[in-house]
Amino acid sequence: MAAAVTSTDTRPTTAASDRLGRPLRDLRLSVIDACNFRCPYCMPADRIADDHGLDAASRLDFDEIETLVRGFVQVGVRKLRLTGGEPLLRRRLPELIARLASIAGLDDLALTTNGALLAGQAHALRTAGLQRLTVSLDALDPVLYRQLSGGRGDVGHALAGIAAAEAAGFGAIKLNCVVQRGINDGEILPLAGHFRGSGHVLRFIEYMDVGTCNGWSAARVVPSVEIRDAIHARWPLRPLAPHYRGEVATRYGFEDGGGEVGFVSSVSTPFCGDCHRARVSADGKLYTCLFAGQGHDLRPALREGQPALAQHIAGLWSDRADRYSELRGTRAASGKRVEMFLVGG
Ligand code: GTP
Ligand code: 5AD
Ligand code: SF4
Ligand code: SF4
Repeated sequence: MAAAVTSTDTRPTTAASDRLGRPLRDLRLSVIDACNFRCPYCMPADRIADDHGLDAASRLDFDEIETLVRGFVQVGVRKLRLTGGEPLLRRRLPELIARLASIAGLDDLALTTNGALLAGQAHALRTAGLQRLTVSLDALDPVLYRQLSGGRGDVGHALAGIAAAEAAGFGAIKLNCVVQRGINDGEILPLAGHFRGSGHVLRFIEYMDVGTCNGWSAARVVPSVEIRDAIHARWPLRPLAPHYRGEVATRYGFEDGGGEVGFVSSVSTPFCGDCHRARVSADGKLYTCLFAGQGHDLRPALREGQPALAQHIAGLWSDRADRYSELRGTRAASGKRVEMFLVGG
């Protein structure tokens, strides 16, 4: 249910709950839909052209993005994650981050990147006010890493990016590994061994049926329990409590004090019941689920200014009933799905 939004103050004046009683807390905002990789599970090279991407004029500009984020904060968002495509391809990104970092009411500002351009940008991102960083890393083996990036990535660049981010002051960097059976499941123990004791947090993600172009099959999914058991057999693990209700990853600690690992298990153990995430594409469309068939264009309300925008968002959120992962495989979950690279995962 959405209460009226009347103030121009950026701090929350309205708490919007959806039809399943879930508040709106997190915003995942794509700043660009282009990517320098072509990971087959997201933007397969034979389906997505090399020059794919919105023209610059179709993307929200920095003024629009700032107003948009202030509108979401007014409705209750506390946590903002910048995504892509690959967000480090967005020109003058540190300038945008500095503007967003100064918004009152926003407690957390994070970004998910493939790491290819991170070494050159880590310092500027940190200085601008970025608080947390997640780097996608599906393999340590250079040949496999390259293959998994669609022939475009160099694992050395991603590792150099992580090192530069550490040097710039980012602590507890999250590393995301999407596991596919028969493809990179052999990387689980090497990755766990590499990041044990580093202070960073490796997370294994079940391969999801996001979008329509990756040829997903259930046979490719490695359930998190299987990954956890394999790690536990080598380095014993114990469960850790979540940091907060609705945390996407389930946490485990190495019993010998080697830090922690996480598991994102949206296929085997859906977590829709606590889903308080909204996604906005680079051209300003709101998706109320990672698997939504269509977005709601926020631009008309955005043009009317922050109070009208906040009111509009609260109305859309109060109508939300998404729970795709819980319905996966049923008729209710068939049909169109937004592509991953438009909403950044
Ligand atoms: P923090 O908790 O803020 O550290 O980040 P996060 O784990 O939510 O973000 P990240 O971008 O690292 O996402 C990790 C994986 O979880 C990615 O594969 C996302 O696509 C997936 N994911 C994040 N949110 C959702 C969600 O609401 N539903 C589903 N099904 N998957 C999600
Ligand atoms: N299934 C699971 N995770 C995926 N990601 C991209 N495509 C998929 C998929 N089909 C991950 C990326 C990135 C995160 C935001 O989403 O690897 O780390
Ligand atoms: Fe690019 Fe990330 Fe998609 Fe890979 S998963 S193609 S790095 S947006
Ligand atoms: Fe939220 Fe949709 Fe993911 Fe469920 S499938 S957790 S509703 S984004």
